[in-house]
This record gives sequence, C-alpha cells and structure tokens, in this order.
Amino acid sequence: MKRDGIYVTGTDTAVGKTVTSCALVARARRDGRRCAGFKPVASGCEQTPDGWRNSDALALQAAGEADIAYEDINPYALPLPQAPEIAAREAGVTLQLDVMLAAANRLSAQVDALVVEGVGGWDAPFAEDIEQRDLARALDLPVVLVIGLRLGCINHARLTARAIVADGFRLAGWIGNRVDPRFTAAEDNLAILRRHLDAPCLGVIPHALHADAAVNAQYLQWPDPRPGLLSR
Ligand SMILES: Nc1ncnc2c1ncn2[C@@H]1O[C@H](COP(=O)(O)OP(=O)(O)O)[C@@H](O)[C@H]1O
Ligand SMILES: [Mg+2]
Repeated sequence: MKRDGIYVTGTDTAVGKTVTSCALVARARRDGRRCAGFKPVASGCEQTPDGWRNSDALALQAAGEADIAYEDINPYALPLPQAPEIAAREAGVTLQLDVMLAAANRLSAQVDALVVEGVGGWDAPFAEDIEQRDLARALDLPVVLVIGLRLGCINHARLTARAIVADGFRLAGWIGNRVDPRFTAAEDNLAILRRHLDAPCLGVIPHALHADAAVNAQYLQWPDPRPGLLSR
C-alpha cells in the first residue's frame, strides 16, 4: 500500500482496539489528513434496513471521513459475536483475503491514512487459511499494539510484541489503555512496559465512561510513517 497506514492489534479482545483505532483516526484528521478506519472482518452485527452492521465498524465510520461507504470500511459483517472462523461458518460465508484487500484498496484510494482494526489479539486467525499477518503483510503495514492496562498485561504485551517481530513486522509503537478503572498499578505497569518493549509508547488513553475519539486523539501521536515489513 502506498498510503500511510497502521494495523492495530491488541493484547486480547476487549482491550480497547476500537476505542484506540477511532482515536488514531481522529489524530490523523486533527493533523489535517483524510483518514478512515477499516474493520476487514467484524463478528457480532445487528440487522438494519441497510444490511448487517457492526458497532466497531460504525464507530470507525463515525470517526473517519463522512463520505465513505460502510461496505468499504467493513467488507465482512458476520452476525454471530464469535471468533471469525465460527461466525463465518454460521453465516455460510467463505472469507477471502482478496475481498479484504479490494476493500482496503478502495478505502485507501479515498484517504491519506488508513487505520486497520484487527480481530481479537494478534494470533487470532481470520479463517482456517487466513491469518491476520497475511493481510498486514499484503498491505505492508506496521503494527501498533494496544495494551489494555490490567493485571496480566505485561505478559500479554511481551508475548504479542515478540510474535509481531517474529512474524517480520515493525512494531511501530504501543498504546496503553486504562480500560479498567480499578487497576491502581497502571503507572507501575507502564514503567515496566516502557522498559521491556522495544518500540515507542504512542500515548496512554485515560479511563472515560463515554469514549470520544476527538478527545482521546489528544493523548496519542501517530507513529513514524515507515514500511511495515522489517525486511523487504
Ligand atoms: N479508555 C477507556 N475508558 C473506558 N472504557 C473503555 C476504554 N477503552 C475501552 N473501553 C470499553 O471497553 C470495552 C472494550 O473496548 P473496545 O475498544 O471495544 O475493545 P476491542 O476493540 O479491543 O474489543 C468497550 O465497552 C469500551 O467502551
Ligand atoms: Mg473492537
């Protein structure tokens, strides 16, 4: 992909990938660039007059440019809120990398920067024969890791960072997200994460009952625009 973009993964599901991806989209737009979020595969959708709609994809759509079609942002909207492989089987859909790439290319033609929100954590597959790294590699995107600041996050963050690099990607940065307001050791954990992770911290998102992408954008910086793959 010629345009600037990042692949957002997380230490797990429900750590704040969507909240952070929306904030990154808002960050780019505050910096004067056209930006869109991309949710290649979304499981857990509601039926609407326009078709199946997923709340992550709708949040990304709301954070991005106003004139972008839902189908470009979310080519696969699977009703069942389960792992993509299971949700796709239930829907009778065969996920195809080419379909995801076509949507990504349509999107990237409309914007200056793309924020791709992955599914679950880094090693959650899209399908039996499609890994998230396959999409990130085809798009040549660097990876940004969202760390849900909670007990256990240091292990999850280190394992994920190691896997990203072992898969040949540049970890462009990581973001701490205060998803758990009762986690009092967040600052101490952040200090340990800073020491152990070989990538810049792009910011820390505070806990807030109603996540606002434009507000959260002020806590973040956009990573260095460099290629995603470590060796090309
Ligand atoms: N900084 C935060 N403050 C408060 N709630 C948050 C924060 N980040 C995430 N959440 C909430 O936690 C849940 C999971 O966040 P989400 O961004 O959907 O995670 P993921 O995309 O990784 O599954 C959502 O209900 C979201 O509103
Ligand atoms: Mg999400």
